Amino acid sequence: MLSENQINEIRKDFPILKTKVYDKPLIYFDNGATTQKPLQVIDRIRDYYLHENANIHRGAHYLSHQATESFEGVRAFVARTIHAQSKEEIIFTKGTTESINMVASGIIGQLKPGDEILITTMEHHANIVPWQMACEKTGAILKVVPLNERGELDIEAFKALLNQRTKILSLAHISNVLGTINPVEELCRLAHEKGAFVLVDGAQALPHQKVDMQQIDCDFYVFSGHKAYAPLGVGILYGKKDALELLAPWQGGGEMIQEVHFDKSTYNELPFRQEAGTPNIEAVLGLESALKYINNLGLENIATYENHLLEYATEAFKKVGGIRIIGEAKRKASVLSFLIEGVHPFDAGTIIDRFGVAVRTGHHCAQPLMDYYQIPGTIRASFAFYNKKEEIDVLVQAIEKVQQMFL
Ligand code: ALA
Repeated sequence: MLSENQINEIRKDFPILKTKVYDKPLIYFDNGATTQKPLQVIDRIRDYYLHENANIHRGAHYLSHQATESFEGVRAFVARTIHAQSKEEIIFTKGTTESINMVASGIIGQLKPGDEILITTMEHHANIVPWQMACEKTGAILKVVPLNERGELDIEAFKALLNQRTKILSLAHISNVLGTINPVEELCRLAHEKGAFVLVDGAQALPHQKVDMQQIDCDFYVFSGHKAYAPLGVGILYGKKDALELLAPWQGGGEMIQEVHFDKSTYNELPFRQEAGTPNIEAVLGLESALKYINNLGLENIATYENHLLEYATEAFKKVGGIRIIGEAKRKASVLSFLIEGVHPFDAGTIIDRFGVAVRTGHHCAQPLMDYYQIPGTIRASFAFYNKKEEIDVLVQAIEKVQQMFL
């Protein structure tokens, strides 16, 4: 596990953690929404603009060649990192949301009325609404897997819902609200037995654990850079080549074409066919630095340390009492959603903020999940490897203050 000394050294790479809010040290527990960026990522972007800025794939000049080489190098690096079979399986997008939309809208030509799309109760809006839109356009039907009382998928219900009409299973690898780690390998295998495609939303998984495309064996895997210490505005759509080939182009424009004539245009090969226009080159380069950073720390070390923080916080909450934890899965990542009994989460969030602690309150873009629990929202602390137990102690003090004030 990462030692206290190591954490103190790591924190030096994140200058924003020295920020004071309301004269108190910033305690950043909103990592599920976005993570802070290490100097290595910030410096990479600066270097690009100081020494390498040019558009890619287009120019015949030196700088453009350099930028293209760096950019395509990241594609190969991402492919190796997630164990894809080739770099052609990696498409750069704006983020998880765009990646899912690219699949959901690109695949409608494969859907017909009565086909079924299976999602789960714990999905983020980004993994619900694009499929509703696909259903509206095709007459396909959206089906939803229920949860058990711990906030885990009900596997028996999942098996009962899966059938020959299921064309797509789309589910989170890790829930952004509950922290539940879903058994994606097993679910993929079961869905494939029925001939369905599987999309796994890895937005909350990639920053916390090693993900391996050959092991999971899904058809599509998507994630955002900014939740994994990389810049905003870049994400990945991984797809097996056969699956990607089925998708209609996402946008028309430069780069995605082979030839353009007024009577007809032809499209480029993958992955470029799905990457119209100038991409976010700086963010792609920053993504490489971020992934190298977490790879150097070791995803297993990160997971062990973050689990330790989660256990510490969970135990502390139990001691305080009067706190309802939402999501108690046996396999859980470092996301802790909770309610202080008798207090609206927004009121609690306002007081917690005054302690310098950044938590997220609300429905976390998972309104159907809130409906399921019949709650207006939760307070969510999501931990990263740069967080410390002492910071959790401050959160606990803040919760006790909320209880004194409101109860
Ligand atoms: N999906 C992000 C979150 O869970 C924004 O906070």
